[in-house]
Amino acid sequence: MIKTVGILGGGQLARMLAQAGRPMGLEFVFLDPAEDACAGELGEHIRAEWDDESALKKLAQLADVVTFDFENVPEKAASLIAASCLVYPPPGALFASQDRLREKEMMQAMEVPVASYYAVSSRPDLVTAVEKIGLPCVLKTRRFGYDGKGQVIIRFQEDMERAWQMLGDHELICEEFVSFDAECSIIAARGQDGQTVFWPLTRNLHREGILAISVAPFFTRQLQSGAEALILKLLDHLRYTGVMALELFLKEDQLIANEFAPRVHNSGHWTSNGAHTSQFENHLRAICGLPLGTGESRLKALMFNLLGQMPGSAMQAVMEGVYWHDYHKAARVGRKLGHVTVTAESEVELRAKAVQVASVLGLAAELNLEAVTCL
Ligand SMILES: Nc1ncnc2c1ncn2[C@@H]1O[C@H](COP(=O)(O)OP(=O)(O)OP(=O)(O)O)[C@@H](O)[C@H]1O
Ligand SMILES: [Mg+2]
Repeated sequence: MIKTVGILGGGQLARMLAQAGRPMGLEFVFLDPAEDACAGELGEHIRAEWDDESALKKLAQLADVVTFDFENVPEKAASLIAASCLVYPPPGALFASQDRLREKEMMQAMEVPVASYYAVSSRPDLVTAVEKIGLPCVLKTRRFGYDGKGQVIIRFQEDMERAWQMLGDHELICEEFVSFDAECSIIAARGQDGQTVFWPLTRNLHREGILAISVAPFFTRQLQSGAEALILKLLDHLRYTGVMALELFLKEDQLIANEFAPRVHNSGHWTSNGAHTSQFENHLRAICGLPLGTGESRLKALMFNLLGQMPGSAMQAVMEGVYWHDYHKAARVGRKLGHVTVTAESEVELRAKAVQVASVLGLAAELNLEAVTCL
């Protein structure tokens, strides 16, 4: 019987896992080097670096099962904990997602479609990659990228030098730039017994590399089952337990995988208010060996990320079916500080409410809501 869940990382994903888990009777302990880790309000916070063996051992001792709120936990830390405590998702899934090259090779081997790519570790490699892939293409660091950081788009030959200046001291991957019609993500949970549930395909809109808006459901039956088949390959291959998200490009009715996240995902935050079971609850159910709830939608949902600063008094406006989430994080330019989920019975109603919320946030024109909500 699992009572205490340990989480490596104490950011907003850990915080929302704890918010979902406490009503289920679970307790939480977080390990995070940041003094102000925002999950700390909901359980014990062990403040330590990722290579602090005694802190890692303490987490393994206090917890009945350990999971992650981000994927860049060093291999050594995950293995050290796994030696004495249950760890889900399996650390192998974590390692596969930490390196964009390994990740793409794995997906390609499983016949999950990906954009063409080349490993780049020298200036001549970059020239060859650009020749082979053509322009535009995207140069990315293989490791530690998030929110579009560590990426440069090469549109013209002249951009190559600048891209190399910016990223050349890292191991890199150069990818074809996909001129997608839309971006979407499929999120699934797999239990210890292999039971798998899916949430509806979610459409994602990014601004400057950061997720700005998610809308769900966004699918035709055919796209939904296509996306489910792709993530299922990854889940089975990795003998996965927990929630996984697969980010996809949609181009001319074809799904092309971008990357997977071995954890709950920003594009699934709407599930807390719009689905029968949230991604957070099902992740905990999976890692605790409990049966999973259905991921089906209860309502149509649209989520805005709140970046850089919270809207303050705007949040006090009461609107039926609108849910504000504040992560209690310090304001910083571009930082994910919270989100707001708008839910409605119909698309027309969703659009009307979303326009209202967007105008409270001062976003309406900029984010072209019309385009986003016209599914
Ligand atoms: N090959 C590509 N073609 C077109 N757009 C791309 C490509 N790679 C990345 N992008 C754009 O940049 C966004 C962020 O890229 P990616 O998901 O690879 O990086 P990330 O930093 O790990 O992002 P996050 O952590 O927010 O998921 C994508 O969602 C997409 O909008
Ligand atoms: Mg991404």
